[in-house]
Amino acid sequence: MVGKSFPRKEGYVFVGSKDYDLKNVRSVKYMLLDHRPDVIIHLAACVGGVKANTDYVGRFYSENILINHNVIHCARDFDVKKVVSLLSTCIYPDAAYVKYPLTEDQIHNGPPHSSNFGYAYAKRMLDVQSRAYRKQYGCNYITTIPNNLFGKHDNFDLQNSHVLPAIIRKVYEAKKNNTQVVLWGDGSPLREFTYSNDLAEILLFLVENYNEPGPINVGNTKEISIKQAAEMIAEIFKFHGEIIWDTSKPSGQFRKPSDNSKLIELGWKEEYYTDFYSALCEVCEWFEQNYPNVRLET
Ligand SMILES: NC(=O)c1ccc[n+]([C@@H]2O[C@H](COP(=O)([O-])OP(=O)(O)OC[C@H]3O[C@@H](n4cnc5c(N)ncnc54)[C@H](OP(=O)(O)O)[C@@H]3O)[C@@H](O)[C@H]2O)c1
Repeated sequence: MVGKSFPRKEGYVFVGSKDYDLKNVRSVKYMLLDHRPDVIIHLAACVGGVKANTDYVGRFYSENILINHNVIHCARDFDVKKVVSLLSTCIYPDAAYVKYPLTEDQIHNGPPHSSNFGYAYAKRMLDVQSRAYRKQYGCNYITTIPNNLFGKHDNFDLQNSHVLPAIIRKVYEAKKNNTQVVLWGDGSPLREFTYSNDLAEILLFLVENYNEPGPINVGNTKEISIKQAAEMIAEIFKFHGEIIWDTSKPSGQFRKPSDNSKLIELGWKEEYYTDFYSALCEVCEWFEQNYPNVRLET
């Protein structure tokens, strides 16, 4: 999703798993030989929602460790000048070990939530490896921390997707089939959502403007409740049926705010983030145009 959100410009090369399997060190070396990049924006990861993170916790750990290790290690061998990697706010320590809003200095202060510890520790090691290579070899490798992302080309599989793509699909299908929508919890939790197109702009901004060893939070910190998001999606699709909140299912943690002041101090402005409703309209319109040929990865 994030890779597809970048502008296509001369000099940029986009590669995916069909081109090179980054779990395989030889394949990573071929990629670097073929393209000789000055800068790598490293987006590749084995990602998923709570269920996938829990069911495939071993795979999420091992694939991400392999991918990240190979990319960082080989980038140094091939003299890549800068690597920009992605962590995630979901790898921060669990609620008992952090103070909100989440600041970058707290990332290793305690265990992550038990539901995603494989993914979280593998991502945390990306920070460790980037800083270690900077310290010993002088590599300018930086790490960035997005919060909940959404955008076109997201994964809309109901078992494995994040909250917004799941609601988009459920509401769209309910409208189409004239049924009600059932969503988990009571809808009260607040979440911060960042449009993937904005993240792409921010990563390009950081290529130019950030060269520090520590990670940097990059997400839009405006909080939206799950209920507000669902109501907006219903409005966009003109769904007038019933939305049922199944309170027998968990609602999740009430808030997980993050602090993006480091990014703002660098010159990024709050108003550069796309307004949530406008971004949602773009994504819903894209979904409608592409349905049923949207990504449904389990
Ligand atoms: N989505 C979120 O809410 C969120 C939040 C915070 C951080 N992030 C981070 O943002 C980054 C992008 O996530 P996304 O949501 O855009 O996920 P995505 O759509 O699943 O993209 C992940 C990409 O990784 C590639 N990939 C996976 N395994 C690979 C392998 N073995 N070799 C080569 N490429 C491989 C996939 O390539 P193909 O498509 O070609 O198979 C895919 O393009 C990830 O690092 C993720 O951890 C995401």
